[in-house]
Amino acid sequence: MSAHGTPIPMMSEASGPLTGTADVPGDKSISHRSLILGALSVGETRIEGLLEGQDVIDTAKAMRAFGAEVTDHGGGRWSVHGVGTGGFAEPGNVIDCGNSGTGVRLIMGAMATSPITATFTGDASLNKRPMARVTDPLALFGARAYGRQGGRLPMTIVGAGDPVPVRYTVPVPSAQVKSAVLLAGLNAPGQTVVIEKEATRDHTERMLAGFGAAITTDQTEEGRVITLTGQPELVAQDIVVPRDPSSAAFPVCAALIVPGSDVLVPNIGLNPTRAGLFETLRDMGADLTYENPREEGGEPVADLRARFSPDLKGIELPPERAASMIDEYPVLSVVAAFAQGRTVMRGVKELRVKESDRIDAMATGLRANGVTVEDGEDWWIVTGLGHGNVPGGAEVASHLDHRIAMSFLCLGMAAQKAVRVDDGGPIATSFPIFEPLMTGLGARILRTGAT
Ligand code: S3P
Repeated sequence: MSAHGTPIPMMSEASGPLTGTADVPGDKSISHRSLILGALSVGETRIEGLLEGQDVIDTAKAMRAFGAEVTDHGGGRWSVHGVGTGGFAEPGNVIDCGNSGTGVRLIMGAMATSPITATFTGDASLNKRPMARVTDPLALFGARAYGRQGGRLPMTIVGAGDPVPVRYTVPVPSAQVKSAVLLAGLNAPGQTVVIEKEATRDHTERMLAGFGAAITTDQTEEGRVITLTGQPELVAQDIVVPRDPSSAAFPVCAALIVPGSDVLVPNIGLNPTRAGLFETLRDMGADLTYENPREEGGEPVADLRARFSPDLKGIELPPERAASMIDEYPVLSVVAAFAQGRTVMRGVKELRVKESDRIDAMATGLRANGVTVEDGEDWWIVTGLGHGNVPGGAEVASHLDHRIAMSFLCLGMAAQKAVRVDDGGPIATSFPIFEPLMTGLGARILRTGAT
């Protein structure tokens, strides 16, 4: 089933060279945060280039339910009249975060230190994902959580009436957990300290500073120590959302594996906590260049140019790079199938608790399409067959996971036989224009009707 409706079966087949410019949508992580921080500040936050994927739309609806005035002005321009730190109202109904782990975890954090109660739910994928990683630290502030067994949604959070600040070491590399704690810390008195052993995406820290919070990051022996002073007055901002490197990954990777391709993907945010895939592709011998590198809104940005790369080679990825490319492993495994030799990915246990178990979903689908994959709890290895040698020909399950669906559609563009995906509906959560954008470049993607 798709996230919000009937399944949309799709297929892709051997495609001509992919050429042209791929204008991918705004960054999903920054879009969620723009709405949430806008809702927690005083005044009008104006946002340009917001990702209008279902995940972010669900966060916009949630912010309205908590009392903010959120307006869609068309063309990716939105505004948020915030209620100020600690000003969230109690929602009158259940908050449905759809498919979005980022949405639900950040919003739980943002409301957990206000004297209000909210109940959260999501789709079948989100309701399977672990929430204790967020509710454990929120309990330290004084919030209580009542969910299903194993800390699953639907779940009710009773916010702390008299929150205390927290010092918390995040036990798994997760920007969502880090961000939930920081957002909760906003309405606690004194200093909330979050420590992460491995650096994860730092958009929350950068944006909190931009909205006027006192927040510092120190690199110490313990890891990154982030200190936030609570109860600031956040001041509304004008935000231009950079384009999403995680969405750029799809036209970039497709161009590398489809013969003759040459694709430009402009204005991509290259924050080092997000750019691990592009480094990895270059290590594999990809013809991928950063053109016109510049800084925009405090983030490094460049135009990516990806050309067909006939001599890709498998590599062993440094595990410490995992956090900076955690969402890109599915599509990387597709590129690895067209490389020569083994691509070894270790230290990636977190892939098992994303929108799907991404190691299992990709390994199963790649094997069905003739690619050898070995896997264990926190590692997997793809043995590449080289260009022209990936058989394809199978149908795969997307498991309500946008990135699994898009990855296999990329596989089909360069495989010998077409690849079918049972449901492309979830693509709308993060990259609603994927299909027209890719077909515009020359990809052969078709909707196939009921399977
Ligand atoms: C995100 C953090 C990552 C990532 C997700 C977006 C964020 O999740 O997979 O797509 O915006 O903070 P984890 O924090 O669970 O690693």
